[in-house]
This record gives sequence, C-alpha cells and structure tokens, in this order.
Amino acid sequence: MARFLTVQEAAESILAGRIVAFPTETVYGLGANALNLTAIERLYQIKGRPKNNPLICHLADPESVFQYGRESGMARRLARFWPGPLTVLLEHEGRIPSIVTAGSGLAGFRIPNHPIALEILRLVGKPVAAPSANLSNSRSPVTAEMVYQQIGDRIDGIVDGGRCEIGVESTVVKIMEDGIAILRPGAITAEMFEAASISVRTVSRTGSEAPESPGMQEKHYAPSIPMILIVEEGGSPGSEAVRDSAGQVRKGKSGLITFAGRIPRIEGGDFDQIYDLSPDGDLDEAAKNLFYVFGRVESDGLDEVYALPVPEMGIGRAVNDRLRRAASYRTLLKDGRITPIQID
Ligand code: TXA
Ligand code: MG
Repeated sequence: MARFLTVQEAAESILAGRIVAFPTETVYGLGANALNLTAIERLYQIKGRPKNNPLICHLADPESVFQYGRESGMARRLARFWPGPLTVLLEHEGRIPSIVTAGSGLAGFRIPNHPIALEILRLVGKPVAAPSANLSNSRSPVTAEMVYQQIGDRIDGIVDGGRCEIGVESTVVKIMEDGIAILRPGAITAEMFEAASISVRTVSRTGSEAPESPGMQEKHYAPSIPMILIVEEGGSPGSEAVRDSAGQVRKGKSGLITFAGRIPRIEGGDFDQIYDLSPDGDLDEAAKNLFYVFGRVESDGLDEVYALPVPEMGIGRAVNDRLRRAASYRTLLKDGRITPIQID
C-alpha cells in the first residue's frame, strides 16, 4: 500500500520516476514527471485511462509554463488567474512528450493554488502530469482517504492535505481567435472571464468531429447506484445520454441530492435520505460537497438517488455539468412534483 509522504519525499519520489498523489485546491492529483515516459506509461496504466485522453502539466509559476507552452497576449491574460483552478491549452512545439498530450499540438497547463502542491512543484522543477487521482471512469477524490480507498494499493505515496477547498476539477479553456472556449466548466467561471474582458465562446457539444477534450466524453463521476436527474420543465435539458424515465413505480429506498432546501414532492412517500449540497444556497459550498456527497450516497444503502440541479450560474455550471454526467436517467419536475421512475 502507498505510504503517506512529506512534501520533500513526494518531490523526490516524482523525480525518481514514481507516482504520488497530492492535494490541490480542486481535487487530489496523481503526479508523475511529465518528461519521464516510463512514469507516464505507468500512470495511464494505474488509472486504466485510455491513451487518447491527455494529461494536464502542472508547474509552479507562469515563467515555467511559458518555457513549455507558447506565450501569447491571451495566454498572459489568462495567467492572471494562476495560481488557480484554471487549465489553459497552449501550443507546445514538442517540448511536452506526445504521450502526455495524446499526440495533440496543444498541451494543458495549470498552476494549482495549494501550498502543498506548489511546494512539490517548486521542488520538482519540471512539469508534473497530474490527472485526478481516481481510476478512469470513477469520481475525483477530494480527501486523502478517498485516494487511498480507490488506488492506495497501486501508487507509491500520498501526501495528505485534508479536504480540497473547491471540490470540482479545474476549468479547461482553449484560446480562440477572438476569445476563449470553455471545454470543462469549473471554479473560474464564464462570468469571471467576462469581467476580465475575455469573451467566452460557446463550443457545440454535438457534431461528429473528434472531441476537443476527450475526457469530457467519459461518463464518470457517477455513484454506483442509479442516479436520476430532475429536469425542470422549460429548463435546460439534461445530457443527451440520459434516458427518459420509463415507469411510474417506485421501488426501494431513494435519496435526493438537492440545494438550498428544495424538496420536490415524489409520489409514493418521502425520500429516505436528503443530501443538501448547501442548505444556505451557497454554490461554492455545493461544489465543495458534491463528490463527497456522491461517496455518502454509495455508503448509505440506497437503491437510487435523484438529483436536482443547482442554479445555472457561476460555479453552479460546473456542479450541474458533473450532475448531468453522473446521471443515467431523467425525470421531469412539474408543479413541484416529480414522477418516480422504474429502473430495471
Ligand atoms: O483540477 C484539475 O484539473 C485536476 C487537478 C489534479 O489539477 N486534474 C484533472 O485532470 O482533472 P484530469 O486528467 O482528470 O482531467 C483533465 C481534463 C480531461 O478532460 C482531458 O481530456 C483534458 O483535461 N485535457 C488535458 N490536456 C488536454 C489537451 N492537450 N487537449 C484537450 N484536452 C485536454
Ligand atoms: Mg479526471
């Protein structure tokens, strides 16, 4: 099993080609020297991650980032959000191995805003590839225990930094001719880019072209029990992958993931368990609790869980994005009431 390491030991381990989990402000990362091909091979293997899904390179300061990724006016403006929960895709001119970028001419760069992560990165002094420290198709861990339970037997060490402050993965952006495109919503929000006079273009998720950010195609995050997204009548649609509810009969114990005390009525009695992501209606708190609550949902012995989206603004977009990806079914909210669905 993985040993718990100090920051110094973690940096030495990474430099020696080993694989070490460490905290960031978003979620725990699984770090390896991005320039060490053997270590990166093993990182993909440990996660069971397909090789077409590129890794983010983490560095300690913008100057180091621009040694590997192409500097531009827009890149500099985006760098003002660093250190922070933002990943920027930059041209890399072959300075990052193609196994890290999945052969793409763009590489993802991020400077995390976490004292432990930053200290490790400073000591390593090289790009550290760090995907979220979970098995592929599983949920990003937000505590060292969650890392240990999922992959503790496969990795070389863990640095315990307590619970991650933000709780959802970084915003991933791509630089466009006239602004940026958000490929993955996170804690650096569209509103924050607009406030910095950076215009945000929307990217269409449809079409047959290769996904711009392969990881976004994966159906991960989901708890091991069926999750049913509650779609507001007239509201934004759920993911296309989500099947509509089929039946009317409720079976077993059901939970509800909700926000700010909202509890829709459900035919056939009350919910057996309510998980309020933020009783006070604080979207930051909701993000912080999201993956933690998914873990509780699994251990509480429920048969299914319903999830009510949070307001679609700010970091709420990231929360809703993860809820949509986690859901396998959907049901409509009508006059404050939902119809239970039959899962078979
Ligand atoms: O908050 C985070 O970003 C965490 C912490 C540990 O920093 N890391 C993380 O990494 O979430 P990962 O590998 O779980 O997710 C990276 C996402 C994936 O969706 C991947 O496809 C996309 O970023 N990505 C990375 N490099 C890319 C590239 N060169 N082109 C397109 N998408 C890229
Ligand atoms: Mg991940």
